[in-house]
Formats: sequence, C-alpha cells, structure tokens
Amino acid sequence: MALVVVTNRIPAEGLEALRAEHEVRAWEHEECISRADCLRLVAGADAVVTLLTEKVDGEFLDAAGPQLQVVANVAVGYNNIDVAACQARGVIATNTPKVLTETTADTAFGLMLMVTRRFGEGERIIRSQTPWQWGMFYLLGMGLQGKTLGIVGMGQIGAAMARRAVAFGMDIVYSDEHEAPAELLAGMPSGAVRRMSFDELLRVSDVVSLHCPYLPSTHHLMGAEQFAAMKRTAYVVNSARGPIIDEAALVAALQAGEIAGAGLDVFEQEPTVHPGLLAMDNVVLLPHLGSATTETRAAMARLAADNVLAVLRGERPITPIT
Ligand code: GLV
Repeated sequence: MALVVVTNRIPAEGLEALRAEHEVRAWEHEECISRADCLRLVAGADAVVTLLTEKVDGEFLDAAGPQLQVVANVAVGYNNIDVAACQARGVIATNTPKVLTETTADTAFGLMLMVTRRFGEGERIIRSQTPWQWGMFYLLGMGLQGKTLGIVGMGQIGAAMARRAVAFGMDIVYSDEHEAPAELLAGMPSGAVRRMSFDELLRVSDVVSLHCPYLPSTHHLMGAEQFAAMKRTAYVVNSARGPIIDEAALVAALQAGEIAGAGLDVFEQEPTVHPGLLAMDNVVLLPHLGSATTETRAAMARLAADNVLAVLRGERPITPIT
C-alpha cells in the first residue's frame, strides 16, 4: 500500500478509486489549502493529486520527499506544475485532457453568446430593477451567423468550439503552429475551417477565442498591439488561462473602443479581477467555471486517480504530460 495525498477536495469518484488500493491522506476542508499546510500534507507521499491552485515546484517536490513517483493534476492546463523540476527528480506528471473538452467549449461558447448578445448586461438591468421597455433599438448585439470566429490554438477544446460555431453558421479560421489533424476536424464541412497566421486571424475575426496553453511563449500573447490589430467591432473570449491576455492592455483597448467587448472565464491574478473590467458593461466575467459540471469534475477526478493507480502499479499513466 502506498500513500496518496490529495491536496484539496475532489469528487468521490476519484477518492474512492484511490482508497480501494491505497492509503489516502486528503485535505477535507471547504477552503483551499494554504501553502504551508500543503507542504506539510505532502510529506512522505508516493503520489500526490493536485488542483490548478497548487504550485508544484522544487520546494513542493522536496517537501514530498524522494519516494514521490507521480503528481496527478486534476486539470488539463498544467502551468502550475514545474515539469522540468518533476523530470529532474524522476517524478511523473499527468493531467486530465479530453474529459473536459465539451464542457470547456460550452463555457467558451456561452461567453461568446453572452458578450455578443449582451445577455449579462440585460440580466444586470433586470436584477438592478432598472426601468426597461422592449424597443426596436434596445440592447442590440451582434449576430454570430456569417461572422468569423478566430480560434487561437486548435487543440481538442478549440476544435469543440469550432464545431459549435459551425452549427451556428460561423466561418472558422485558426492559428496554430501545426495544421490540425483531419480527425480533429472530422464532421465539419470541408473548407469550413482555415488555418492562417495569428496576425491575419486578428485582422479578419469578429470573435477571437483563446484555446492555447499558457506557456512562456503565450504570456501576454494578446497585448496592446494585438487589440489594435483587431476590428473595432470584434470581441475577445478567454477560457484558457488569464495571463495569455495582458489585462491592463485589454482594459485600455476596451476604454479606447479598439475592440467591442470581452468574455472572460480566467484572469491574470485569480481570484482578483482588474477593477477596470468590473466597471464595463461590454465585458462578461465568470469565476473560472470552464469545466465546472458535476459530470466533468467527476470524470476529471477519476482520470487523475487512474493515472495515480497506473503509476503505482508500475504501468504507464493514461495521460502523462511529458
Ligand atoms: C482548468 O482550467 C483546466 O485546465 O482544466
């Protein structure tokens, strides 16, 4: 029996699978674990299950100890994990791709609808009991049909977003360092999805939706220059990671009317949100709900547990990061 540490609350589907084979030490409190408690909790672990709120760096790995074999992140994004530090210590790192693809694409699509059709703004008007009346020109938004969606990063989630947008009658363009494999775009009408440079995508898109991982190379990928290159009528949607957007530059671009609006599920300094964004009606803000359904979170926890169980049995993990 090995010791598996779970650093925050996860769905029972994951915990039960782990408990069936190993001793489990889990953080059971409502509030997120502090760094100090986390470093104490992981001591002596053979495997650790982490959330994206934990920074897994050299200090964390050393606190666990040299017996540590695997860190299983319950998220597809793994910018919280120092992969090189794991590799240097022979620790395997895993994530949870695919199980959250459709749910996260739903969130991105929902943000796009909310911001282009001004649904958040309308809801705030009703809730604040502001007087309103149906009118031919009241709260008009932008229709999506016939518009161009620019997908930055054509991975699983980008492709799921593209499928939804095709169904809504949008044209799809994407930028990615690789041509999307045919199976990723299966079922979409041929020619409906075109690859182009990032710069061209910014110029032609009516909505730019970010689906790339957060890496040093994508830090502030969207900054002042990029917002200036977009159409003044265009929107940006971010369901990937906050720091892919330079938030101060986004606020400035919105204030200057360089773009029409933004739909954001992620922020540069979560849980803090730039005050400039809070003040604007053409911005939709969600508290990082990308994969937040009961079904998807259960599937993520189960996949993370299965990764741990595989490594502890001496097998290859199902979804290794490297
Ligand atoms: C959520 O943000 C994830 O990366 O899974």
